[in-house]
Amino acid sequence: MKSGDKYIPLKKLNEIKELALKNPEKFWGEQARCLDWNKTWDKVLEWKPPYAKWFVNGRLNACYNCVDRHILTSKRNKAAIIWVAENGDTKIMTYYELYRKVNKFANVLQNLGVETGDRVAIYMPMIPEAAIAMLACARIGAIHTVVFSGFSADALAERINDAQAKVLITSDLLYRRGKKINLKNIVDKALLNCPTINHTVYVKRNSDLKLVEGRDYSWEELMKGAKNYIDPIPVDSNHPLFILYTSGTTGKPKGVVHSTGGYMVYTTKTMEWTWGVNDMDVFWCTADIGWITGHSYVVYAPLALGTTIVMYEGAIDYPNPGRIWEIIENHGVTILYTAPTAIRMLMTYGEEWVKNHDLSTLRILGSVGEPINPRAWKWYYEVVGNRRCPICDCYWQTETGGHIIYPPIGIQNIPLKPGSATFPGIGIDADIVDESGNSLPANKKGLLIIKNPWPGMLIGLWKNNKRYEEAYWKRVPNCYCPSDYAIKDEDGYFWILGRADEVLNVAGHRIGTAELEHVLVSHHAVAEAAVIGKPDDIKGEVPVAFVILNKNFHDKNKKELKEELIKYVKETMGPIATPHMILFVNKLPKTRSGKIMRRVLKKLIMSEELGDLSTIEDNTSIEEVKKELMDFEYR
Ligand code: WT7
Repeated sequence: MKSGDKYIPLKKLNEIKELALKNPEKFWGEQARCLDWNKTWDKVLEWKPPYAKWFVNGRLNACYNCVDRHILTSKRNKAAIIWVAENGDTKIMTYYELYRKVNKFANVLQNLGVETGDRVAIYMPMIPEAAIAMLACARIGAIHTVVFSGFSADALAERINDAQAKVLITSDLLYRRGKKINLKNIVDKALLNCPTINHTVYVKRNSDLKLVEGRDYSWEELMKGAKNYIDPIPVDSNHPLFILYTSGTTGKPKGVVHSTGGYMVYTTKTMEWTWGVNDMDVFWCTADIGWITGHSYVVYAPLALGTTIVMYEGAIDYPNPGRIWEIIENHGVTILYTAPTAIRMLMTYGEEWVKNHDLSTLRILGSVGEPINPRAWKWYYEVVGNRRCPICDCYWQTETGGHIIYPPIGIQNIPLKPGSATFPGIGIDADIVDESGNSLPANKKGLLIIKNPWPGMLIGLWKNNKRYEEAYWKRVPNCYCPSDYAIKDEDGYFWILGRADEVLNVAGHRIGTAELEHVLVSHHAVAEAAVIGKPDDIKGEVPVAFVILNKNFHDKNKKELKEELIKYVKETMGPIATPHMILFVNKLPKTRSGKIMRRVLKKLIMSEELGDLSTIEDNTSIEEVKKELMDFEYR
């Protein structure tokens, strides 16, 4: 089917949007029929702000919806996962094969003592076993918490401990940029501090892996003895499907909890509305399963719709910059969903790498993670899509479960504006307001808010309701505030302008400045630290750290200290948080009440006007930072 075959008239789309807001119960009650339920709900929505319960008392199983129901249809022998390794090895797994493996692994989990409601941590490379592990948890109602495989031992342990996971599923090795990364060492280190973990299951990729007796098991071995079928356990619609940690404004990551029913309905419907997927599609979302995009649009929504997905382990520009285009050509990818940072990186290699491949199967190009700058948009549209494929810019976040502001290309060919994610999606009542919550006129920058609950909305933060209420519902009372700045133009298009809190967006990853500062000050040489984001051509933004050293470190070799601190951050938080620059200063600009003025630091690093300095305590701190910046440039 060509794109456009299923378009509905614009008038109809507007009617649907109106109905969804006017009568959400009727609307979402009908949409929820996209899933198979074991028991229908008594009520579509119970809204006690800020807590929403969707499909109250309904029962379903997410794994059944992603796997079992397809093997009863002609999708049975269809490719579910086309997996490509960095060295080019390819495995194609049909829905039937996925069904068999998920059943067996769900039984493995049961045999390890995992029960409904227990937490299971998943720390894995992008291999099919990662998706199998997630689905197997869902099959028995266990709550998974996937930790991105680029996180360090400490970050892994922190997440395992917060979730109190019983079992950890991992692999001994990860392949990236031609290197083998030893996950086993990281896991062993993390497990020294994880008292709740009873067992670890390893997908063995290295033959001489040494397992700890009674604690560690090999995936392959356990699968041999497992049952071929176990019944999927229907859970309450509001039973947590997973916890996923994300960065916030304090040092501790937030455990975002998603429901089973609402989340599955919302991701499945947004998948349909955004891309209009059909049986001819090969859908490739390049996100890692460690992030929400990997949960919603690599695993749950595509599989619920019986779509064929591509899963790739490795860097999209390795062993050469043509790798991504080669995979699209080889497997006939029809929808590509990636991040602006990836597009900007691919642009630097030049058009030739793209032109050498037949990309005629592509029909939609998706973008997510940060605003897509016009230059990247143009290149994506012209060079990659050959001016045929709409650019589908999807704005959302871990907490929203699925797309919030996006063009519903699957059902309507709306005119696009480069850099705008277009309009709030079906069932989303969004607005732009000032800090007091007043609606702003067109083209005025303000806070983006959502005024109504939607089924994909997080159901809370893991065991921390207070933080949930404060983080999302207090800034603008009784509205969901994602903490992003935006404007709405005269045609009603929304333009996201970036974070409205102390969170950085580095290559599409959220990094809390407080989290990074917390890590830096935990190093014995550091007395104080302030982290800001510096604009970067490829990554969008990179962390820059201003550090005040402890007295007895003033005479130490600064170059060595910087290297040590960078290594420390990599080990403590993970390579994605690596500071791009570290500057040693004696003072930081602070307000009279003692708050670090990050805004001033940012202006200084960008050589911009400093703006209002009336609240600064000590002006000399500015000269101090300026001098350090000058020295840095000449070094
Ligand atoms: C933050 C969420 C959910 C996708 C992956 C990131 C920024 C995300 C866009 C976009 C402008 C975007 C926002 C948001 N963001 N998509 N299309 N245009 N900004 O998930 O880690 O929860 O980060 O990423 O700042 O709040 P996340």
